[in-house]
Amino acid sequence: MADKAATLTYDNKSIELPVLEGSVGPEVIDIRKLYGQTGAFTYDPGYKSTASCESALTYIDGDEGVLLHRGYPIGQLAEHSSFMEVSYLLLNGELPSKQELDDFSYTISRHTMLHEQLMTFYRGFRRDAHPMAIMCGVVGALSAFYHDSTDISDPEQRKIASHRLIAKMPTIAAMAYKYAVGQPFLYPDNSLSYTGNFLRMTFGVPAEPYEVNPVVEKAMDRIFILHADHEQNASTSTVRLAGSSGANPFACIAAGIACLWGPAHGGANEAALNMLREIGTPDRIPHYIERAKDKNDPFRLMGFGHRVYKNYDPRATVMQKTVREVFESLKVTDPLFETALQLEELALNDPYFIEKKLFPNVDFYSGIILSAIGFPTTMFTALFALARTVGWVAQWNEMISDPGQVIGRPRQLYTGPTERDYVPLGQR
Ligand code: ACO
Repeated sequence: MADKAATLTYDNKSIELPVLEGSVGPEVIDIRKLYGQTGAFTYDPGYKSTASCESALTYIDGDEGVLLHRGYPIGQLAEHSSFMEVSYLLLNGELPSKQELDDFSYTISRHTMLHEQLMTFYRGFRRDAHPMAIMCGVVGALSAFYHDSTDISDPEQRKIASHRLIAKMPTIAAMAYKYAVGQPFLYPDNSLSYTGNFLRMTFGVPAEPYEVNPVVEKAMDRIFILHADHEQNASTSTVRLAGSSGANPFACIAAGIACLWGPAHGGANEAALNMLREIGTPDRIPHYIERAKDKNDPFRLMGFGHRVYKNYDPRATVMQKTVREVFESLKVTDPLFETALQLEELALNDPYFIEKKLFPNVDFYSGIILSAIGFPTTMFTALFALARTVGWVAQWNEMISDPGQVIGRPRQLYTGPTERDYVPLGQR
């Protein structure tokens, strides 16, 4: 922390505001005492200039296109690590030793099953329910089943709840898929990797053995790594805000899932692939680029632009490379990939996108891979939720472990009517 200060002059009064310094990144003006000293609030809808918390998990430099988890660049983690290893790193702060990784993976594998009674929840949903609707409901309902891990003041219970959430998400998501396609649920197979088990629960059937394709398993694991955490994004902030009131972890993660569902956030991968399908062939791209630039047209290039990245999203780079690997291994091609590449090239050379610093984000290419693997578009955001769960629980744990943690309670700029007297119904 620096011993610098910023001076704010307001209402003929000057006050000193401490300036805090993180390990890297912009300095932060501490305005916590502003209201007490001036009676004024700050105004920052969408938190464009506001640090809502202190965190040691993930660092993003949006201008340079840098994403670090506990200091490690996302490109290196995606290349050399595994989702289990990244999960350990996010939760514990350091990369695990071989023994620590084995123990952690074993522990997670012991929590993959769902309480049998939870299975009956699925039957209450329509078969055409969106998997995210099911995820919100079933994850929220975990708090009705795992009472022994809802005391948030007990670090051991917090750890068990975190492990349960990470472990059960693949089972919950795979079951949402199975329910939609009318196939029987498959129980987890703990002899497989975290990701291999998920693929089997999703695409396997009881009638025949399922062989995990190692290239698909690696690609899927990499997609999970790329989505594991992303600093104080909308859904993570939702989890923190829900958790700040002392709500139990399962309820908090259900809140995060609800937020992630939106098309401006996690729902963008589904929207991006739907958009590519709508565009269809490369000759139609210019028309859609014109539409995206037209202020009177609500159409936006989905998978383009980011609140923080004003440069190429480093996750999109890895994602584009992974598309090629999966296509080669599965010996498939998808004309939409060609459309996506051309759309990217045209947009990146268009003054509108250059000036507004709009680059492809993680969602631009993820849908193409997920579709090649066999997932329907409705599952895309559910996969994102599965992977982001580790980030959510790590951030939630970090917040609860902070002795200075208080309930999140933003203020507002009120623009409604001032006080007025009630008018009886007959006199209005
Ligand atoms: N297509 C066309 N124009 C865009 C796009 C886009 N995808 N994204 C932003 N713009 C324009 C806006 O119209 C705005 O123009 P203006 O300054 O003339 O009004 C300008 O760029 C800034 O856009 P904002 O919406 O103010 O930027 P913000 O940081 O609030 O939004 C967001 C970021 C929501 C991601 C936005 O870029 C978007 O809607 N992208 C498409 C959806 C998407 O891909 N979301 C995934 C994000 S990544 C994730 O959640 C995993």
